[in-house]
Amino acid sequence: MRLNSPQINLITRACMKASRSLIRDFGEIENLQVLEKGPGDFVTSADKRTEKILIDELQKSHPEYGIVTEEKGIINKSNKKNRWIIDPIDGTMNFLNGVPQFAISIGYEEDGEIKCGVIFNPIMNEMFCAEKGNGAYLNNTRIRVSNKKKLNNALLVTGGPKVSSKIKDKIFSEYINVSKNVSNIRKFGSAALDMAYVACGRFDGYWQRELNYWDIAAGIIILKEAGGFVNFFEDDTSSPLIKNILATNANIHEELKGLLSKKEIE
Ligand code: IPD
Ligand code: CA
Ligand code: CA
Repeated sequence: MRLNSPQINLITRACMKASRSLIRDFGEIENLQVLEKGPGDFVTSADKRTEKILIDELQKSHPEYGIVTEEKGIINKSNKKNRWIIDPIDGTMNFLNGVPQFAISIGYEEDGEIKCGVIFNPIMNEMFCAEKGNGAYLNNTRIRVSNKKKLNNALLVTGGPKVSSKIKDKIFSEYINVSKNVSNIRKFGSAALDMAYVACGRFDGYWQRELNYWDIAAGIIILKEAGGFVNFFEDDTSSPLIKNILATNANIHEELKGLLSKKEIE
Protein backbone atom coordinates (compact mmCIF):
# COMPACT_ATOMS: atom_id res chain seq x y z
CA MET A 1 0.00 0.00 0.00
CA ARG A 2 1.35 3.43 -0.89
CA LEU A 3 -0.20 5.34 1.96
CA ASN A 4 2.19 6.54 4.59
CA SER A 5 0.97 9.41 6.75
CA PRO A 6 1.49 8.83 10.49
CA GLN A 7 -2.29 9.02 10.92
CA ILE A 8 -3.10 6.24 8.44
CA ASN A 9 -0.47 4.03 10.06
CA LEU A 10 -2.00 4.68 13.46
CA ILE A 11 -5.55 3.98 12.30
CA THR A 12 -4.52 0.78 10.54
CA ARG A 13 -2.72 -0.46 13.64
CA ALA A 14 -5.67 0.38 15.90
CA CYS A 15 -8.08 -1.43 13.54
CA MET A 16 -5.94 -4.56 13.44
CA LYS A 17 -5.72 -4.63 17.23
CA ALA A 18 -9.46 -4.07 17.81
CA SER A 19 -10.44 -6.56 15.13
CA ARG A 20 -8.95 -9.48 17.09
CA SER A 21 -11.54 -9.18 19.86
CA LEU A 22 -14.25 -8.29 17.36
CA ILE A 23 -13.66 -11.50 15.43
CA ARG A 24 -13.82 -13.47 18.70
CA ASP A 25 -17.05 -11.69 19.65
CA PHE A 26 -18.58 -12.41 16.25
CA GLY A 27 -17.74 -16.09 16.75
CA GLU A 28 -19.71 -16.01 20.01
CA ILE A 29 -22.85 -14.65 18.32
CA GLU A 30 -23.82 -18.00 16.88
CA ASN A 31 -23.96 -19.51 20.35
CA LEU A 32 -25.93 -16.57 21.70
CA GLN A 33 -28.53 -16.65 18.90
CA VAL A 34 -30.10 -19.72 20.46
CA LEU A 35 -30.62 -18.09 23.87
CA GLU A 36 -34.05 -16.62 24.44
CA LYS A 37 -32.58 -13.34 25.63
CA GLY A 38 -30.72 -13.02 22.34
CA PRO A 39 -27.34 -11.41 21.84
CA GLY A 40 -28.50 -7.75 22.29
CA ASP A 41 -26.60 -6.93 25.50
CA PHE A 42 -23.58 -8.83 24.31
CA VAL A 43 -23.44 -6.74 21.15
CA THR A 44 -23.63 -3.51 23.13
CA SER A 45 -20.60 -4.63 25.10
CA ALA A 46 -18.79 -5.70 21.91
CA ASP A 47 -19.37 -2.16 20.58
CA LYS A 48 -18.00 -0.62 23.76
CA ARG A 49 -15.05 -3.02 23.96
CA THR A 50 -14.03 -2.34 20.36
CA GLU A 51 -14.37 1.40 20.81
CA LYS A 52 -12.21 1.33 23.96
CA ILE A 53 -9.40 -0.54 22.21
CA LEU A 54 -9.50 1.95 19.32
CA ILE A 55 -9.51 5.01 21.59
CA ASP A 56 -6.72 3.66 23.83
CA GLU A 57 -4.57 2.87 20.83
CA LEU A 58 -5.11 6.24 19.12
CA GLN A 59 -4.62 8.18 22.34
CA LYS A 60 -1.24 6.54 22.99
CA SER A 61 0.21 8.71 20.21
CA HIS A 62 -2.05 11.76 20.41
CA PRO A 63 -3.80 12.20 23.75
CA GLU A 64 -4.65 15.79 22.75
CA TYR A 65 -6.62 14.99 19.57
CA GLY A 66 -10.38 15.44 19.54
CA ILE A 67 -12.41 12.23 19.13
CA VAL A 68 -15.99 11.90 17.93
CA THR A 69 -17.32 8.42 18.64
CA GLU A 70 -20.67 6.74 18.55
CA GLU A 71 -20.64 5.28 22.05
CA LYS A 72 -18.64 7.81 24.11
CA GLY A 73 -19.59 11.01 22.31
CA ILE A 74 -17.01 13.78 21.97
CA ILE A 75 -13.63 13.64 23.73
CA ASN A 76 -11.32 16.72 23.92
CA LYS A 77 -14.11 18.91 22.57
CA SER A 78 -11.92 22.03 22.35
CA ASN A 79 -9.56 20.41 19.82
CA LYS A 80 -11.25 21.01 16.48
CA LYS A 81 -7.99 21.03 14.54
CA ASN A 82 -7.23 17.30 14.75
CA ARG A 83 -10.07 14.83 15.22
CA TRP A 84 -10.62 11.10 14.91
CA ILE A 85 -14.15 10.13 13.85
CA ILE A 86 -14.91 6.59 15.00
CA ASP A 87 -17.66 4.05 14.47
CA PRO A 88 -16.48 0.88 16.27
CA ILE A 89 -19.03 -1.39 14.57
CA ASP A 90 -20.92 -0.03 11.59
CA GLY A 91 -23.58 -2.58 10.73
CA THR A 92 -24.53 -3.59 14.28
CA MET A 93 -27.78 -5.20 13.15
CA ASN A 94 -25.83 -7.46 10.78
CA PHE A 95 -23.29 -8.27 13.52
CA LEU A 96 -26.16 -9.10 15.89
CA ASN A 97 -27.63 -11.55 13.39
CA GLY A 98 -24.37 -13.25 12.48
CA VAL A 99 -24.19 -11.59 9.05
CA PRO A 100 -20.56 -10.73 8.22
CA GLN A 101 -21.36 -7.33 6.69
CA PHE A 102 -20.03 -4.86 9.28
CA ALA A 103 -16.89 -2.81 9.71
CA ILE A 104 -14.74 -0.64 11.91
CA SER A 105 -14.73 2.85 10.41
CA ILE A 106 -12.24 5.59 11.36
CA GLY A 107 -11.69 8.93 9.67
CA TYR A 108 -9.06 11.54 10.50
CA GLU A 109 -10.03 15.20 10.14
CA GLU A 110 -7.77 18.26 10.09
CA ASP A 111 -9.34 21.74 10.34
CA GLY A 112 -12.71 20.26 9.46
CA GLU A 113 -11.53 18.34 6.39
CA ILE A 114 -11.24 14.54 6.24
CA LYS A 115 -7.62 13.73 5.35
CA CYS A 116 -7.56 9.96 5.57
CA GLY A 117 -9.71 7.02 6.58
CA VAL A 118 -9.98 3.28 6.99
CA ILE A 119 -12.98 0.96 6.76
CA PHE A 120 -12.13 -2.58 7.84
CA ASN A 121 -14.37 -5.63 7.57
CA PRO A 122 -12.44 -8.09 9.76
CA ILE A 123 -14.47 -11.14 8.75
CA MET A 124 -13.92 -10.70 5.01
CA ASN A 125 -10.43 -9.35 5.75
CA GLU A 126 -11.10 -6.35 3.52
CA MET A 127 -9.40 -3.11 4.44
CA PHE A 128 -10.41 -0.05 2.44
CA CYS A 129 -8.24 2.99 3.00
CA ALA A 130 -7.35 6.32 1.48
CA GLU A 131 -5.29 9.39 2.09
CA LYS A 132 -5.87 12.79 0.49
CA GLY A 133 -3.94 13.02 -2.78
CA ASN A 134 -2.63 9.44 -2.62
CA GLY A 135 -5.54 7.36 -3.93
CA ALA A 136 -7.78 4.70 -2.40
CA TYR A 137 -6.94 1.04 -1.82
CA LEU A 138 -8.61 -2.25 -1.01
CA ASN A 139 -5.91 -4.22 0.81
CA ASN A 140 -2.93 -3.58 -1.48
CA THR A 141 -4.80 -2.87 -4.68
CA ARG A 142 -5.72 0.56 -5.98
CA ILE A 143 -9.48 0.97 -6.37
CA ARG A 144 -11.65 3.16 -8.58
CA VAL A 145 -15.36 3.84 -8.88
CA SER A 146 -17.30 2.18 -11.69
CA ASN A 147 -17.58 3.68 -15.13
CA LYS A 148 -21.31 3.02 -15.54
CA LYS A 149 -22.65 5.92 -17.58
CA LYS A 150 -26.43 5.68 -17.38
CA LEU A 151 -28.53 5.74 -14.26
CA ASN A 152 -30.97 3.24 -15.74
CA ASN A 153 -28.15 0.65 -15.87
CA ALA A 154 -26.89 1.45 -12.39
CA LEU A 155 -26.91 -0.76 -9.29
CA LEU A 156 -27.38 1.49 -6.26
CA VAL A 157 -27.30 0.89 -2.53
CA THR A 158 -29.18 2.71 0.21
CA GLY A 159 -30.30 2.35 3.82
CA GLY A 160 -32.90 3.50 6.29
CA PRO A 161 -35.26 4.70 7.44
CA LYS A 162 -34.32 4.17 11.06
CA VAL A 163 -37.08 2.89 13.36
CA SER A 164 -37.11 6.31 15.05
CA SER A 165 -37.27 8.30 11.79
CA LYS A 166 -39.94 10.98 11.54
CA ILE A 167 -39.70 11.12 7.76
CA LYS A 168 -40.31 7.46 6.91
CA ASP A 169 -42.92 8.26 4.24
CA LYS A 170 -40.58 10.70 2.51
CA ILE A 171 -37.77 8.11 2.52
CA PHE A 172 -40.03 5.37 1.16
CA SER A 173 -41.42 7.55 -1.63
CA GLU A 174 -37.90 8.63 -2.55
CA TYR A 175 -36.95 4.95 -2.73
CA ILE A 176 -39.86 4.21 -5.06
CA ASN A 177 -38.98 7.18 -7.22
CA VAL A 178 -35.32 6.17 -7.54
CA SER A 179 -36.12 2.49 -8.07
CA LYS A 180 -38.19 3.34 -11.16
CA ASN A 181 -35.16 4.96 -12.74
CA VAL A 182 -32.30 2.53 -11.99
CA SER A 183 -31.44 -1.09 -12.71
CA ASN A 184 -31.71 -2.20 -9.08
CA ILE A 185 -31.20 -1.19 -5.44
CA ARG A 186 -29.61 -3.08 -2.54
CA LYS A 187 -29.82 -2.55 1.24
CA PHE A 188 -26.75 -4.05 2.90
CA GLY A 189 -26.96 -2.51 6.39
CA SER A 190 -23.57 -0.86 6.78
CA ALA A 191 -23.26 2.73 5.57
CA ALA A 192 -19.46 2.60 5.80
CA LEU A 193 -19.24 -0.52 3.62
CA ASP A 194 -21.89 0.88 1.25
CA MET A 195 -19.56 3.84 0.62
CA ALA A 196 -16.53 1.55 0.30
CA TYR A 197 -18.37 -0.65 -2.20
CA VAL A 198 -19.15 2.37 -4.38
CA ALA A 199 -15.47 3.33 -4.14
CA CYS A 200 -14.36 -0.02 -5.55
CA GLY A 201 -17.07 -0.18 -8.23
CA ARG A 202 -19.22 -2.96 -6.74
CA PHE A 203 -22.08 -0.46 -6.62
CA ASP A 204 -22.46 2.61 -8.84
CA GLY A 205 -23.97 4.90 -6.25
CA TYR A 206 -25.31 5.31 -2.72
CA TRP A 207 -27.68 7.70 -1.05
CA GLN A 208 -29.14 7.84 2.42
CA ARG A 209 -30.78 10.30 4.77
CA GLU A 210 -30.35 10.78 8.53
CA LEU A 211 -26.90 9.29 8.85
CA ASN A 212 -24.46 10.11 11.61
CA TYR A 213 -21.13 11.63 10.67
CA TRP A 214 -19.20 8.61 12.07
CA ASP A 215 -21.07 6.27 9.67
CA ILE A 216 -19.51 7.97 6.64
CA ALA A 217 -16.44 10.03 7.67
CA ALA A 218 -13.91 7.46 6.44
CA GLY A 219 -16.08 6.63 3.43
CA ILE A 220 -15.97 10.25 2.24
CA ILE A 221 -12.22 10.30 1.65
CA ILE A 222 -12.12 6.72 0.33
CA LEU A 223 -14.81 7.49 -2.22
CA LYS A 224 -13.29 10.82 -3.29
CA GLU A 225 -9.83 9.29 -3.70
CA ALA A 226 -11.37 6.53 -5.81
CA GLY A 227 -12.67 9.17 -8.22
CA GLY A 228 -16.23 9.39 -6.86
CA PHE A 229 -18.42 12.38 -6.11
CA VAL A 230 -19.85 13.10 -2.67
CA ASN A 231 -22.64 15.55 -2.01
CA PHE A 232 -24.56 16.47 1.14
CA PHE A 233 -28.11 17.61 0.62
CA GLU A 234 -30.74 19.37 2.75
CA ASP A 235 -28.25 19.99 5.57
CA ASP A 236 -29.72 20.85 8.96
CA THR A 237 -27.24 23.39 10.34
CA SER A 238 -28.56 22.87 13.88
CA SER A 239 -27.42 19.19 13.81
CA PRO A 240 -23.99 19.19 12.13
CA LEU A 241 -23.38 15.49 12.90
CA ILE A 242 -26.50 14.39 11.00
CA LYS A 243 -25.98 14.01 7.25
CA ASN A 244 -27.96 13.22 4.11
CA ILE A 245 -25.51 11.90 1.57
CA LEU A 246 -25.31 11.17 -2.12
CA ALA A 247 -22.15 9.34 -3.23
CA THR A 248 -21.68 8.02 -6.75
CA ASN A 249 -19.32 7.51 -9.64
CA ALA A 250 -18.67 10.66 -11.67
CA ASN A 251 -21.13 9.85 -14.47
CA ILE A 252 -24.48 9.36 -12.75
CA HIS A 253 -24.13 11.99 -10.03
CA GLU A 254 -26.16 14.84 -11.52
CA GLU A 255 -28.93 12.56 -12.75
CA LEU A 256 -29.39 10.96 -9.32
CA LYS A 257 -29.18 14.36 -7.60
CA GLY A 258 -32.01 15.55 -9.86
CA LEU A 259 -34.16 12.57 -8.88
CA LEU A 260 -33.63 13.11 -5.15
CA SER A 261 -34.72 16.71 -5.34
CA LYS A 262 -38.02 15.77 -7.01
CA LYS A 263 -40.94 16.12 -4.65
CA GLU A 264 -43.55 13.98 -6.40
CA ILE A 265 -43.57 10.22 -6.95
CA GLU A 266 -43.54 9.64 -10.69
C1 IPD B 1 -26.09 2.00 10.95
C2 IPD B 1 -25.66 1.40 9.63
C3 IPD B 1 -26.85 1.27 8.69
C4 IPD B 1 -27.56 2.59 8.51
C5 IPD B 1 -27.95 3.21 9.85
C6 IPD B 1 -26.72 3.34 10.75
P1 IPD B 1 -24.76 1.23 13.14
O1 IPD B 1 -24.98 2.16 11.82
O2 IPD B 1 -24.69 2.19 9.00
O3 IPD B 1 -26.45 0.84 7.42
O4 IPD B 1 -28.71 2.39 7.74
O5 IPD B 1 -28.50 4.49 9.61
O6 IPD B 1 -27.12 3.87 12.00
O7 IPD B 1 -25.88 1.53 14.07
O8 IPD B 1 -24.78 -0.17 12.68
O9 IPD B 1 -23.43 1.70 13.63
CA1 CA C 1 -21.97 1.60 15.28
CA1 CA D 1 -22.88 3.37 12.15
